[in-house]
Amino acid sequence: MPAKMLRPWLVALPAKTYALCQSNTHPPTAGCPPGTLYVSATDKRANFTTVQAAIDYLGNGTGPGFILIAPGNYTEQLNVTRHAPLTLLGMSRRPLRGESYADVDTTTAPGRQNDVQIWWNAANTNSRYPDNVYTGVLTIGPTLNATLTGSGPTGFPVPDDTPFGCTDFRAYNIDFRNEYAPYSDGPAHAVGVSRANAGFYSCGLYSWQDTLYIGKLGNAYFHDTIIAGQTDFLYGFGTGYLSRSTLLLRSCGGGITAWKGTNTSADPFARNKYGIYIDASQAIAANASVAPQLAGRCALGRPWNALHRSVFMRSFLDPSVRPDGYVVWQAGDPRVNASTFMATWHAYGPGYNATAERASNVTRVLSDREVAPYRRPVDVFVGEGGVGWIDRSVLAE
Ligand SMILES: *[C@@H]1O[C@H](CO)[C@@H](O)[C@H](O)[C@H]1NC(C)=O
Ligand SMILES: *[C@@H]1O[C@H](CO)[C@@H](O)[C@H](O)[C@H]1NC(C)=O
Ligand SMILES: *[C@@H]1O[C@H](CO)[C@@H](O)[C@H](O)[C@H]1NC(C)=O
Ligand SMILES: *[C@@H]1O[C@H](CO)[C@@H](O)[C@H](O)[C@H]1NC(C)=O
Ligand SMILES: *[C@@H]1O[C@H](CO)[C@@H](O)[C@H](O)[C@H]1NC(C)=O
Ligand SMILES: *[C@@H]1O[C@H](CO)[C@@H](O)[C@H](O)[C@H]1NC(C)=O
Ligand SMILES: *[C@@H]1O[C@H](CO)[C@@H](O)[C@H](O)[C@H]1NC(C)=O
Ligand SMILES: *[C@@H]1O[C@H](CO)[C@@H](O)[C@H](O)[C@H]1NC(C)=O
Ligand SMILES: *[C@@H]1O[C@H](CO)[C@@H](O)[C@H](O)[C@H]1NC(C)=O
Ligand SMILES: *[C@@H]1O[C@H](CO)[C@@H](O)[C@H](O)[C@H]1NC(C)=O
Repeated sequence: MPAKMLRPWLVALPAKTYALCQSNTHPPTAGCPPGTLYVSATDKRANFTTVQAAIDYLGNGTGPGFILIAPGNYTEQLNVTRHAPLTLLGMSRRPLRGESYADVDTTTAPGRQNDVQIWWNAANTNSRYPDNVYTGVLTIGPTLNATLTGSGPTGFPVPDDTPFGCTDFRAYNIDFRNEYAPYSDGPAHAVGVSRANAGFYSCGLYSWQDTLYIGKLGNAYFHDTIIAGQTDFLYGFGTGYLSRSTLLLRSCGGGITAWKGTNTSADPFARNKYGIYIDASQAIAANASVAPQLAGRCALGRPWNALHRSVFMRSFLDPSVRPDGYVVWQAGDPRVNASTFMATWHAYGPGYNATAERASNVTRVLSDREVAPYRRPVDVFVGEGGVGWIDRSVLAE
């Protein structure tokens, strides 16, 4: 075991920043920043009955917006286009940090569920939609065109003069669920982030295929968050960093990560360190019933194009993970060359085998020097806003 080994949190305790606001009080927004809007489908005290109505009310206003959401099941598709900061706070009945939480199972994450659930069940089966973005539960980006996945090596050609979207989007204790079908049935986004900065704290992102999309110039940070899926369930062009989070394997398909990159001098990507970086986290079977079928079958990732970059750092890999780690795109179309960067650093657990990873010729086992450029959020979020949009209370942990 490496000395730096850390276990993920495994419990959805609210980060301390807004924990008072998130607790169930009367009035509901007691302890919240001034002007916080309150959403509930059933509580008469609410300002709005849907989350999108509150987002629309805030519109393009220049000040930061805060929305407190009551426990419940909301069936709606959320779009965040504003430039100014926006924070969505899930009311959480869970005890605050330091209090007793005997009723919370601290040994397994899979059963964990936030009290606020936002659902949108849709999949781009047989390309029934013009683009994958139409399936998303939550999409953050300045314009519809900026959020399109598109196709080909560089995706949808977003015009250079497109403004940056939200500079500081945050979600706390909210589950985003796209449960279109209980298996991969085409792209089905839970969350998409393009040309925007977004942080997720103690959230859940649930789908089966393409659960998380980080588009061009998208920056997304995840702490104590569950991302569940089967096929290529973290994919995109942008930059993502997971800290103390859980990759929940509902089945195996493609790889956990599928990244694309472009690197030409004309491309704004040259400014950022696109890729998906996973630190002090875990990749585990969704539950004991599926675990036997997954044993040794789930790949850490595969290259959407040859410039894929991802690293599993200090992370626990359960027996579901293939001993050789990553795989090629597919037989006859490997998409691997000397630029492909599919790596592990101080990974551990029964699904980790450094010998098998090295022998695969596609998985890199990194030295401390090789991982250094990607090690911390401050190393990879070098675009708009640096790491100023990440909740400092968890960044310090
Ligand atoms: C939201 O509801 C609270 C409590 O009823 C009220 O004081 C506040 O003015 C409302 N805000 C808006 C923007 O309607
Ligand atoms: C909000 O700002 C964007 C980008 O500046 C603009 O395209 C959009 O029309 C604005 N929306 C409203 C409702 O003013
Ligand atoms: C929540 O809504 C989704 C989608 O409409 C539905 O499938 C699910 O059963 C609902 N859950 C609860 C607990 O009502
Ligand atoms: C969100 O954007 C998608 C794609 O344009 C659209 O289909 C959907 O209706 C939008 N939802 C809302 C609530 O604006
Ligand atoms: C979005 O892109 C399409 C295809 O390039 C273009 O025809 C359309 O005008 C763009 N929409 C906006 C609002 O810029
Ligand atoms: C186990 O996880 C799989 C995949 O998410 C799910 O389909 C199944 O219902 C779960 N079984 C139990 C017993 O929870
Ligand atoms: C792009 O390529 C240049 C030259 O090879 C390299 O120095 C730079 O690190 C690359 N940028 C990214 C984001 O990979
Ligand atoms: C690998 O392929 C990509 C295109 O997919 C290309 O941009 C890159 O230069 C190639 N790298 C090497 C070392 O050949
Ligand atoms: C690791 O992989 C190597 C090469 O495939 C194999 O010989 C070895 O038995 C594996 N180790 C374990 C502990 O499974
Ligand atoms: C990896 O490369 C070595 C040397 O070229 C070769 O002998 C071996 O068969 C390759 N392994 C795989 C899994 O392709």
